Amino acid sequence: MYMVKEYVNASKIQYRDALDVIEEFEKELSEMEGKCMDIGCGPGDVTKRLILPKLSPEAELVGTDISKPMIDHAKQKYVDEKRLSFFELDIETAALPNEQIGQYSNALSFYCLHWCQNTWQAFENIYKLLRPGGKALVMFLAWNDGFDAYMKIHENPQYKPYMEVDVYDTYAS
Ligand SMILES: C[S@@+](CC[C@H](N)C(=O)[O-])C[C@H]1O[C@@H](n2cnc3c(N)ncnc32)[C@H](O)[C@@H]1O
Repeated sequence: MYMVKEYVNASKIQYRDALDVIEEFEKELSEMEGKCMDIGCGPGDVTKRLILPKLSPEAELVGTDISKPMIDHAKQKYVDEKRLSFFELDIETAALPNEQIGQYSNALSFYCLHWCQNTWQAFENIYKLLRPGGKALVMFLAWNDGFDAYMKIHENPQYKPYMEVDVYDTYAS
């Protein structure tokens, strides 16, 4: 995701949904200490404005994202935040940087993991990033009404050649 300004201007729903989950798990977040990672942090607004204030005051939060423009934007915007930092990371990588392994007490992720083609690898990496006993709070799309529209377009002979559909949820049928 490379269009930072466009995403910031069109992500009210993602922001609201993240807020819902964060409020629901407020107690769990307040008990999160040590180093925490927000995976797929995008422009860093959910990271800074929603997650950081809910964590234990001693916690340190690291936002990561596959997108360099997102990370550049977040770094620039939140440069003065002492407990917050950002770096590029593809959570699906087959070569997780050694120095990151076992470094995190908690992992959080909002609206990112459904972008991953290899969800097994992504979750394996989250497991590796965590210390023993570490916890993860993740929110991602399992289904969305919009997916029905993709299927309908795909079934229409006029559009079928242009609209390839990959089965998203192998357990749906
Ligand atoms: C819908 S945005 C969500 C951003 C933010 N978490 C929020 O709630 O506003 C999804 C983000 O996931 C990132 N992303 C997609 N695939 C990723 C991957 N494999 N590893 C890390 N980040 C990824 C995108 O670059 C994008 O910034």
